[in-house]
Amino acid sequence: MKTPHSVKTLALVAAFTLVATAGCSADGARENNTDAQSTMDSAATADMSVGEDGTEQNDTGQDDAGQDDAGQDVATELDGGVTDATTVGEEPYDAKLKLPQTMFAYANQPLPAHFKTETMGMHGQTALVDDDNTPAHNPITNAGATLGRVLFYDKNLSQNRTVACASCHKPEFGFSDDRVLSKGFDGGDTARHSMGLTQARYYRVKRFFWDQRAATLEDQVLMPFQDPVEMGMTLKTLAARANAAKYYPALFKAAFGDPKITTERMSLALAQFVRSMVSTGSKYDEGRAKVTSRSADFPNFTAEENLGKKLFVNPPTMGGKRCFTCHGGEGFVTMKATTNGLDADASKDKGYGEVTGQQSDMGTFKAPSLRNVALRAPYMHDGRFKDLAAVIDHYSSGIQPNPNLAPPLFISNGKATQLTMTATEKKAIIAFLKTLTDIKMTQDPKFSDPFVK
Ligand code: HEC
Ligand code: HEC
Repeated sequence: MKTPHSVKTLALVAAFTLVATAGCSADGARENNTDAQSTMDSAATADMSVGEDGTEQNDTGQDDAGQDDAGQDVATELDGGVTDATTVGEEPYDAKLKLPQTMFAYANQPLPAHFKTETMGMHGQTALVDDDNTPAHNPITNAGATLGRVLFYDKNLSQNRTVACASCHKPEFGFSDDRVLSKGFDGGDTARHSMGLTQARYYRVKRFFWDQRAATLEDQVLMPFQDPVEMGMTLKTLAARANAAKYYPALFKAAFGDPKITTERMSLALAQFVRSMVSTGSKYDEGRAKVTSRSADFPNFTAEENLGKKLFVNPPTMGGKRCFTCHGGEGFVTMKATTNGLDADASKDKGYGEVTGQQSDMGTFKAPSLRNVALRAPYMHDGRFKDLAAVIDHYSSGIQPNPNLAPPLFISNGKATQLTMTATEKKAIIAFLKTLTDIKMTQDPKFSDPFVK
């Protein structure tokens, strides 16, 4: 797989990570959270039209120096250059936002009991909450995730102002894209299929992207901006663009205690917003709450859904197909990158092997949580399967003898062993996967577009 841009992006992110460790603005954000809430409220009432007085909120108090200060800081941190709205030629711009008077609740969302204990404990699976990738320095705050939401939907932050994160991560498609490959700002195709973001907060390895090239979510969220196909920005132009927007100072002040706009803060806020995308209200969750063991029939399920659950969750000794060995636990998320035998070798896409250079990682991929999976066709890292029926056919008869296949997928006599299923079983597994859909979550206004068109 040729990913010419990934090397460059990694280098930039590495540079950024050094800076991020040095500055510790998140502490300030936490202390100031209560203040921030009230600032946010009044800011929202004023319809976020910060307008000309954006500079007034700057601590320097110097009229002209105000705007410059924020931009310069970013530039100095990143490469010692000078960057602000003026030098990069960004004209001030504005947009109308509709934000609630009282902020939406993102922080400390109540979690169902089954997220906190693991009743089956197979294959080293532990409670879902134990695989939370939230770092101590960036807990979710309501004001931080609110800023993250605005950044996530802001098309102004791509080179020609046509694409936002949400262009490729649409709530109605489980925060993924219905296109096989997504379109970037200039009409180019992304290298891989967009990933669903539901439950991205929980993954033991804590790495991001199909090939796990991002070490943390805080690193990951700045990469799409800098991707030459996706959004076509640099950290410098990104900082300058955000600094020229009239609606950001108040949002940054609410989130971080002062209106300084930096790419580091953008990373923290976006990561908070993405981590808040946790589904707890699917038909599966409703049923799971009514039984003590996941393998028991759920009273709210049809016979077909219960059969599908049995096939998905149980080992062969209990009549199952062992999907759960890989997509395990209450997040239905793999424990590490692996291969499900899409191809016999890694020549098309090395996946995680591209990152580590290890033979044992060649052609292995992260599989995003299967929550909301029914909403996000097409499937797999290259979007090769148009629907769930095609996915199930693959597991039933299409598994290729990739040398990195791991249990429960085996190679015997040079051939991959298939998870053979009858037509009834295939239909049942699909019915079960649909119980992982959570429309209440994907339609929750707190994840919707805040920009007024
Ligand atoms: C032009 C389409 C596009 C845009 C714009 C885009 N993404 Fe993505 N996103 C993708 C694709 C494609 C992947 C998978 C890429 C890969 O693995 O190589 C992805 C992967 C991700 C992942 C990894 C999920 C996981 O579980 O590992 C996250 C998180 C993410 N994007 C968040 C964002 C954010 C935040 C933004 C805005 C700053 C954004 N994306 C903008 C297409 C896009
Ligand atoms: C050996 C581990 C393993 C087993 C067993 C396994 N899977 Fe997967 N699954 C994966 C991996 C890895 C991916 C991502 C592969 C890729 O895109 O390269 C994946 C992807 C998927 C996807 C697509 C996810 C998306 O966002 O595109 C679905 C749906 C799925 N698996 C369902 C199942 C079902 C149903 C079973 C049982 C019949 C099963 N899996 C068994 C490892 C496994």
